[in-house]
Amino acid sequence: MLTSMYWLGIDIGTGGSRALLVDSTGKVIAGFTAPHEEMTMERPLWAEQRPGNWWDASQVAVRGVLAQAGVSGDRVKAIGLSGQMHGLVILDASGNVIRPSLIWCDQRSQPQVDAINTKVGKEAVLNAIANPVLTGFTLPKLLWVRDHEPAHFDRVRQVLLPKDYVRYKLTGEFASEVSDASGTALFDVVNRRWSATLCEALGIPRDWLPRVVESPEVTGVISREAAEATGLRAGTPVVGGGGDQAASAVGNGIVEAGIVSCTVGTSGVVFAHTEKPAYDPRGRVHTFCHAVPGKWHVMGVTQGAGLSLQWFRNHLAPGVDYDALTAEASTSPAGAHGLFWLPYLMGERTPHLDATCRAAWVGLTAKHTRADLIRSVLEGVSYSQNDCLEIIEGMGVPVDRVRLSGGGARSGFWRQMFADVLRKRVATLETQEGSAYGAALLALSGEYGSVEELCRAAIREVSTADADDAAASFYAKAHRTYQAIYPALQPVYPLLG
Ligand code: XUL
Repeated sequence: MLTSMYWLGIDIGTGGSRALLVDSTGKVIAGFTAPHEEMTMERPLWAEQRPGNWWDASQVAVRGVLAQAGVSGDRVKAIGLSGQMHGLVILDASGNVIRPSLIWCDQRSQPQVDAINTKVGKEAVLNAIANPVLTGFTLPKLLWVRDHEPAHFDRVRQVLLPKDYVRYKLTGEFASEVSDASGTALFDVVNRRWSATLCEALGIPRDWLPRVVESPEVTGVISREAAEATGLRAGTPVVGGGGDQAASAVGNGIVEAGIVSCTVGTSGVVFAHTEKPAYDPRGRVHTFCHAVPGKWHVMGVTQGAGLSLQWFRNHLAPGVDYDALTAEASTSPAGAHGLFWLPYLMGERTPHLDATCRAAWVGLTAKHTRADLIRSVLEGVSYSQNDCLEIIEGMGVPVDRVRLSGGGARSGFWRQMFADVLRKRVATLETQEGSAYGAALLALSGEYGSVEELCRAAIREVSTADADDAAASFYAKAHRTYQAIYPALQPVYPLLG
């Protein structure tokens, strides 16, 4: 009898690293998450994590999933990686991490963004990388280190993204893939290679940047040291994988036009596949390479989606679990008695591209209860995701249905709210594993004709929620009120300190 083989996905998230094992049909066999240390926020809007912590957690996760499945490392045929995007990992000449990573939601680099726009020109930047430079992206973070920590900058010899640091620890190779590279602001998204224009204009040596492949391509094999650390077999191939959003899109089957995903984790992302690069002229959604070879995607990002609920729970309902919170929210009526939450806890990308804006409740009265507060948080995040969807549809990208995933998809109450606010049929999938699943599928796709073919075979919708007409028209009106709040508050943000 043939011994079964398995494929492994490893996702380096913000909260933890998750390892997931699938069989040759894409069925999930086991998953194991090792939590990360809390991100350090030395100042408001700063956010750092230690790459060493990601590597430690990945080892625990891989050992954990193998033990849970009762599978030995030599039955893992290939490995895919995914991870939080945009983080800056800098290594010295010996491959040591120079300083903690400034991660995706760190917003300190507005002066560097302004300097890039002045030096290169906004139009030239758009032509070079198909996107505006944003504070969250990797390049301005690197320039922040140059401007504020020159002793660190002088030692830089390699710049990596979070999952690609774990790849380096697993294989000894410096490599990335097109989807994650797209979020650095140094990548020519249209031509799928590093941007010579930006590297030259800003004096970034090309040899600081890793080799870039398409997502299903092999980047290296598990080293002897990594085999000892993880229980995997030395020589096991590691494929490119994807940035967490592109990988999650593969896990959700967003590999053809018409189906869009809405992934509500710490951040909230509306993601659509495109055959060709498609742009919002105002740069409010990202145009990045897809993890499907030769394809692209657009995505809109709410910085503080699940984070809004997590923040609420940590500070205003400690010890209460998420199910209890959403159950409490359901006792408040649609609109939460005229209360609105703006989810800008970490500034905002779509639709405002504003690193300085702040979260707010607007409309509070003495009558409001905690249930209203929670409901308004869920509604505010849903409106913000609808802002993303409306821009994507406005670009002419077809949206027939939405597949919902991430922690936000677990609550039936929030699922229905998404259907009502987005005014779309919202489906959930049999496998709700997101990025780690997509990473495993990218590793497995070598056994199939293509990523698309594998997704068609492996991914199934299990439940759907349709918009309720009355709720949808209520929310359509309330969404306009929500949209009027940001411009009203905007003059105040610079005064807040
Ligand atoms: C995508 C993004 C987030 C992070 C963290 O642009 O910033 O998805 O990757 O999940």
